Amino acid sequence: MIVGDLEFKNYKILAELGAGANGVVYQAVNTILQREEAVKVWRSRSSRDFRNKIEQGLREAQKLARASPQFAVTVYSAQEFGGALIATMEYVAGKTLKWYQENSGPILRIQLAEVYLNSIVHTTTESTRHGDAHMKNVLVFEEKKTKHDTVLRMKFCDFGTSIYSGKEASEQRHWQIVRNTVISLTHGTENQEFCLSVLDKNWPIGRKMAMDAYAARENGIDFSDLDIAQMWAAPLKDYINDLKILEWQKAGRVGS
Ligand SMILES: Nc1ncnc2c1ncn2[C@@H]1O[C@H](COP(=O)(O)OP(=O)(O)O)[C@@H](O)[C@H]1O
Ligand SMILES: [Mg+2]
Repeated sequence: MIVGDLEFKNYKILAELGAGANGVVYQAVNTILQREEAVKVWRSRSSRDFRNKIEQGLREAQKLARASPQFAVTVYSAQEFGGALIATMEYVAGKTLKWYQENSGPILRIQLAEVYLNSIVHTTTESTRHGDAHMKNVLVFEEKKTKHDTVLRMKFCDFGTSIYSGKEASEQRHWQIVRNTVISLTHGTENQEFCLSVLDKNWPIGRKMAMDAYAARENGIDFSDLDIAQMWAAPLKDYINDLKILEWQKAGRVGS
């Protein structure tokens, strides 16, 4: 694999997985370990701000390294190379949540919203808050439980660097994106509008509880990051449950 004019040794590119403003992500083979990995190369388009991208890539890789491998792609290495920042990481063989949103019926989308929210709750800590958890930054994959039983799981990629832009603002922004994602994932489900009106009413309550818990924490009361994430998530959890009941009723699985 060539980066700049240098050969990034022992990696063979198989395909480009995505390219954005910050760089490119490849599916590649680690030829020494003989396994597939993902390689992200942060590099700027203009030669003038490449420092910037290296910094940005480094922060993102460090944040990824702090996140639980249960819910985030595992980062294997990060280094400056050929004028870019390169991180090698776990390759998740699956599809983005965006793909599932576009190709699934309402019941599966509601179930995915549930899995998504649970994954968010378990990765939202002060040092690992995603900050940009929209559907293209969520990888969905199948995990075989038993011979006949497969469950869908999710891992986040592309961790933003929002922890550096003020705690309260980045916390709010993070949860706003989570909320928008849950809403668009469940778009067009039975009675969504009614459930949304309940969500709109409850959302500020969850936010206030979370903010109060932060304040209490400063005064020595021991709320964990998980407690606070659950406060933020509670109105969304209720929203998903309401949708579920209505959609299940429609499908005739539960008597009305
Ligand atoms: N570890 C990975 N395994 C599989 N696919 C990945 C992985 N990381 C990224 N991708 C895919 O590549 C796309 C772009 O990666 P991302 O890190 O979001 O880059 P960008 O900063 O350009 O948005 C993602 O939307 C996803 O489809
Ligand atoms: Mg992305």
